[in-house]
Amino acid sequence: MKNTIVTLQDQKRRGEKITMITAYDYSMAKLLDQTGVNCLLVGDSLGMVMLGYEDTVSVTMEDMIHHGAAVAKGTRDALVVVDMPFLSYHISVEEAVRNAGRLMREAHAQAVKLEGGSSVLNQVRAIVNSGIPVMGHLGLTPQSVHAFGGFKVQGNTVEQAEQILADANALEEAGAFALVLECVPRGLAKRITDEIAIPTIGIGAGVDTDGQVLVYQDALGMFEGFQPKFVKRFGDIGTQIKNGIMDYCDAVKANEFPTIEHSFKGSQELERLY
Ligand code: KIV
Ligand code: NA
Repeated sequence: MKNTIVTLQDQKRRGEKITMITAYDYSMAKLLDQTGVNCLLVGDSLGMVMLGYEDTVSVTMEDMIHHGAAVAKGTRDALVVVDMPFLSYHISVEEAVRNAGRLMREAHAQAVKLEGGSSVLNQVRAIVNSGIPVMGHLGLTPQSVHAFGGFKVQGNTVEQAEQILADANALEEAGAFALVLECVPRGLAKRITDEIAIPTIGIGAGVDTDGQVLVYQDALGMFEGFQPKFVKRFGDIGTQIKNGIMDYCDAVKANEFPTIEHSFKGSQELERLY
C-alpha cells in the first residue's frame, strides 16, 4: 500500500504507530521499502553516515538531490521525505520554496523536512501553499549543533519546554503534516503528541510519540563509534559485512573463487585454441 501524508495522519487517529527509517541510496531503499516501513527519510544525516562529516552543516542541496533521487527510484510504498539542508531555507522565503521545489522535482521527494519552529514559520507556510508537504523537526535540531554547543537533549528547562510546545503548535498551524521530535524529555514529547492533531515522530523522545525514526546504520549496527542513548541495535550487519568480505578475500586467495560455474565458456573454436 502506498503511504501518503493522509495515511500517516490516519494512523495517528487510529493509534497505529508510524515507522520511519533513513535511506540514502537505491539498493538500500529497495530493501527497506520491502519491509513495510511507512516512511523513508533521506536525512541530511547522510553527511555523517555516508560522507563522513562531523555534523550535517556541510551537506548541500546537490547532495540531497543526488541521494534523494536514488532513494525515490528504489521506493514503491513508503512515503519519501527529503531533508532540506543547512541554509537552504533560511535566507528568504523565496529561496526556501525554490529549494523545496527542487527536492520535489529533481529528487522526486514526496515531502520535505526542515528544522526549527518560530523562525521558519513563514517558510513552512509558503512551501505548504505551493503544494509541498512539510514535516517539521524540533528539539535537538542538528543543523544548529554549533549554536547548542554540542549534541545534547533540548527542552530540559521549563522555558525551553514551553518554547518547543509553542513551536509544535505553531508548525501545525502553519500547515506541517507531521513533526519529528529529537532528543527531548519523554514527558514533553507526550504533552506535544496529546496536544497537536498531526503525528509526532520521535527519536530519543520516549515511547509516547505517534511514531519512531532511526538512522538505519545505527539500528543495524553498521556505524562504529559513538552510540547515542536513544539507539537500539536491531541487527549486526556491520559484522556480517566484514565476515562476508573476509570470506570473499580468503576464497580469492585460496583459488576457491571463482569456480567453473562462475566462469564463461568460449566458443568451440576458442575452446580449441585456449
Ligand atoms: O537526518 C536525519 O537522519 C534526521 C532524523 C534523525 C530525524 O533528521
Ligand atoms: Na536531518
